[in-house]
Amino acid sequence: MSVRPLLPEPHRAALLGAMQTAVPRCYGQVATIAGAGDAAAPRVRTITLHHVEELDAIAFSTSTCSAKWAELRARPRLAGVFFDLQRFVQYRWEGGVELAEASSPEYGELLRRMWRRVSPGVRWFTWDDYCRNVLRGAVDFDVDESCPIEGLVVCRPEKWDVLEFDVEDYGRSRRTVITWTGAAWQGVAAPLQRALEPF
Ligand SMILES: Cc1cc2nc3c(=O)[nH]c(=O)nc-3n(C[C@H](O)[C@H](O)[C@H](O)COP(=O)(O)O)c2cc1C
Repeated sequence: MSVRPLLPEPHRAALLGAMQTAVPRCYGQVATIAGAGDAAAPRVRTITLHHVEELDAIAFSTSTCSAKWAELRARPRLAGVFFDLQRFVQYRWEGGVELAEASSPEYGELLRRMWRRVSPGVRWFTWDDYCRNVLRGAVDFDVDESCPIEGLVVCRPEKWDVLEFDVEDYGRSRRTVITWTGAAWQGVAAPLQRALEPF
């Protein structure tokens, strides 16, 4: 995995500050596309976002048995949103993902570290789900050990849409659209509600 700055400054520092201080955890929403052809439809859910320092990327843990994992395997792209409730800033992103799972040895250490950030209750549930529905039998497990169905979705935004919302006067809000050109991030001030060029 290559290191690309998550977002240009000053937005990067502001986003990471908001993620670190989000209480009790940093929650965002991500959307995938489920189904194909005429049946294709967006599907959105809440996830717990983490910053992966060495990749300068945001990521979330999930089960490789989940619908979102299957959807991302079929189409490894997503749209996500995080709202900084303290500063009233909305961060939307679109882009590809990298899927890290326990069966890929190169991700072992990263998965182990990210697993420790998952709440003990969710770790227990994931192990129990693995025993019941994958193994179809009980094994002794330690919730601190990575579970074989642990997955990590590493987001690779190609476009950010940052809305600094002015609560007193919406018209004074600022919207910046930031696009990865392949070599650098390029940000432009954008109209608050007018349609932009298709991405
Ligand atoms: C506050 C909150 C945090 C959540 N965090 C995660 C998470 O980090 N990973 C995850 O897979 N699901 C998380 N969920 C559950 C998902 O929103 C979703 O209901 C579940 O993963 C099934 O989604 P799917 O069937 O679309 O895969 C969270 C739900 C809530 C309400």
